[in-house]
Amino acid sequence: MILSIESSCDDSSIALTQISTKELIFHQKISQDDDHAPYGGVVPEIASRLHAISLPRILSSCKKFLPQVKAVAVTSAPGLSITLLEGVAMAQALCLALNVPLINVHHLKGHIYSLFIEQNSFFPLDVLLVSGGHTLILEAQSFKHINIIAQSLDDSFGESFDKVAKMLNLGYPGGPIVEQYALNGDPYRFSFSIPLYQYPQIAFSFSGLKNSVRLAIESLNKQSTISEQDKADICASFQRIAIAHIKQQCERFLAKSTQVHFAIVGGASANLILRQELKTLAQKFHKTFQTAPLEFCSDNAAMIGRVAIESYQQNHFITPDSISVLPRTSSIF
Ligand code: KG4
Ligand code: ZN
Repeated sequence: MILSIESSCDDSSIALTQISTKELIFHQKISQDDDHAPYGGVVPEIASRLHAISLPRILSSCKKFLPQVKAVAVTSAPGLSITLLEGVAMAQALCLALNVPLINVHHLKGHIYSLFIEQNSFFPLDVLLVSGGHTLILEAQSFKHINIIAQSLDDSFGESFDKVAKMLNLGYPGGPIVEQYALNGDPYRFSFSIPLYQYPQIAFSFSGLKNSVRLAIESLNKQSTISEQDKADICASFQRIAIAHIKQQCERFLAKSTQVHFAIVGGASANLILRQELKTLAQKFHKTFQTAPLEFCSDNAAMIGRVAIESYQQNHFITPDSISVLPRTSSIF
């Protein structure tokens, strides 16, 4: 088995994956949402301290598998450096103690391989990756060849949900909360503009939309206190435009793409309206629509273990003393 560790942000997670069958044998994750909620976003110091508590706790619950571990894998980039280091330190110690090789895994490749935890992998495919740190369109040709086609010029899709939730004091993480509020709101009450509507290249931008939401909240605040209905209407109007923006850019891309498969991955791919809209879009262009099971959309070690199986089979190892964490990587994979 491969033991994999994920600690790039605010989820502590460990998984065990069978090398020969690629079957997920063990997976546990401890999220820190409640600890960061009062701050409306992840506080790196707190996240790091909580990983130092949670990772050993998870490890002790899978102790019985340790004699079967043939390699240890860990997310080494991108992410928060002080939280990545918690996972890397544990991985280094385990490799030395068990005398097994180390595998470093790129977190974004993990999100792509979340598609293949419960089914065989297939390439090539087009991927929309929407998380708290990234909004990307990728062309994945194979395990080794993954190209960035489009990215955000500023904030990410998931981050914009977090910021809207913070402005409305709704809690953290904002994505699921805003989606929930939007269910009771009027998506046409606020007429925010679709970002980059006439922009010549395929790209994403959420800072202007976020600013429009801020102005709408300020204007409501001047009139009276914001009601629950106001909040729901803002969430619904914001979500409608954020998704319309994603859809427009993906449509421009899919119109030119010759691939058969289109996938969405990343924490924000759990958004059911986004899934529905992009499924319809994929059908329009006669492409299959691929998503990961909801439990593997947000950060988890199972997807890291799935990538590590491929690395293991190709003998891609790194020595414990040469692994370094890269908070941002210029080369993507
Ligand atoms: O992939 P992930 O777990 O962490 C990163 O790699 O960043 O993604 C977390 C992000 C957060 O910004 C969260 O608010 C967003 O995904 N998210 C959502 C939804 N669920 C999670 N955004 C929109 N709608 C959702 N239902
Ligand atoms: Zn992620």
